[in-house]
Amino acid sequence: MTKKLWGGRFKKGLSNSAIKLSHSVHIDKRLLQYDIRVNQAHANELTKAGVFTTEDNQKVQNYLTQLAIDFQDNLIKNDEDIHSCVERLVTAALGDLGKRLHTGKSRNDQVITDSRLFIKDQCKTVQGLLAQLNQTLLKLADRHIDVIIPGFTHFQPAQPVLFSHHLLAYVEKFSRDLKRFQATFDTADVCPLGSAALAGNNYDLDRDAIAKELGFSAITQNSMDAVSDRDFILEFLAASSFCMTHLSRFCEEIIVWNSPMMGFVQLGDDFTTGSSIMPQKKNPDMAELIRGKSGRVLGHLTSLQHILKGLPLTYNRDLQEDKAVMFDTTDTIVDSLTCFSEMIETLTLNKAAIQAMLDKGYLTATEFADYLVKKGVSFRNAHEMTGKVVNYAVENNKRLDELSRDEFTQFCEAVDDDVYDAISIGAAIQAKNGVGGTAKAQVVAQIKRLMAE
Ligand code: ARG
Repeated sequence: MTKKLWGGRFKKGLSNSAIKLSHSVHIDKRLLQYDIRVNQAHANELTKAGVFTTEDNQKVQNYLTQLAIDFQDNLIKNDEDIHSCVERLVTAALGDLGKRLHTGKSRNDQVITDSRLFIKDQCKTVQGLLAQLNQTLLKLADRHIDVIIPGFTHFQPAQPVLFSHHLLAYVEKFSRDLKRFQATFDTADVCPLGSAALAGNNYDLDRDAIAKELGFSAITQNSMDAVSDRDFILEFLAASSFCMTHLSRFCEEIIVWNSPMMGFVQLGDDFTTGSSIMPQKKNPDMAELIRGKSGRVLGHLTSLQHILKGLPLTYNRDLQEDKAVMFDTTDTIVDSLTCFSEMIETLTLNKAAIQAMLDKGYLTATEFADYLVKKGVSFRNAHEMTGKVVNYAVENNKRLDELSRDEFTQFCEAVDDDVYDAISIGAAIQAKNGVGGTAKAQVVAQIKRLMAE
């Protein structure tokens, strides 16, 4: 059996079931590269503190640098976690030096230093993917700047909007997500090493120097907070939940738009799948999977919150359960963003289907009411009259602009020949010319602004 780091006072080893329950190396081995860097930074400080000679340190550094290159899963034995594994390997190779590497350091501060470095890298990766996704959406918006689609409320056709305007709505959401990952990065960017088990270390280690070597901007100010804190992971899961929620909503729209019932869009063959029994099918599986995976990430956020909420200070082994949700969340969000970006690039529009819904949706009813207001009718009365006009049009199976002037004036005398200009789809778009509105000039300005960001 692999020797425990803490075996001194124990007469018996752990039972098999306890090993199965508690060993986490198969999960936290993903932290290996960070663990090695943290050990190297710590060894440098131990050298300054006189625990290692310069030659000792050189040996430790060389071994760890080589281990980072050579490490393979078959080096893992019956180790409790990756930190124990690394220490065992250094000790097997360098004897007493390996045993001294743990001076003034606990796995409690080691594990969160590793995790903070991991989360910082993941934030940068996700931010890069979000920036890329936004650029893709902006290009799509630019390419389709003249396409008008029905905008929905209550999932009912409501008012015409530019397709680009709809895409830019998501760019705004993803831009806020990007900021949330930057805030998470900043939270994680604080070095806890030197906190040791919970109370601090006895070796007067230069914590600022360790932090600097590891690329942290600051050091933690309270060792008890430091070893008990997983806020930075919780924050990553929260930012990921926001982002996955946005992706999920977008996927839901793509699924609906792609359904033959609506038929607004088509996705590339490389992002759809067939059915093993129904040859006519072309299913938007990737969009469905991203929608489904968002549920998993939301669950992980809740899991970690539950893991944390009952814990007294400081370190408790429950905290080890943070890894599975952390890794699964980072993988899920990275894979989802990557696939979504590529999928959305393959999106093509079926303008005939879009036009069909524009034609029958009475989308310019509000324009007609506003037209009446301009003719001196109060908005409430105009709303009422418009309702009657729409009813009449529905009953007679006509679009609003197919009604004759006489048909209009049955309901409202104020209607003139200029009504047809006022209720055209193009005019409805053009009229929304305030900041944030769907007029082409506004949307073009937004695309320009966002592309420059
Ligand atoms: N593997 C543990 C974790 O992820 C770190 C080890 C600390 N264990 C301990 N018994 N103090 O939290």
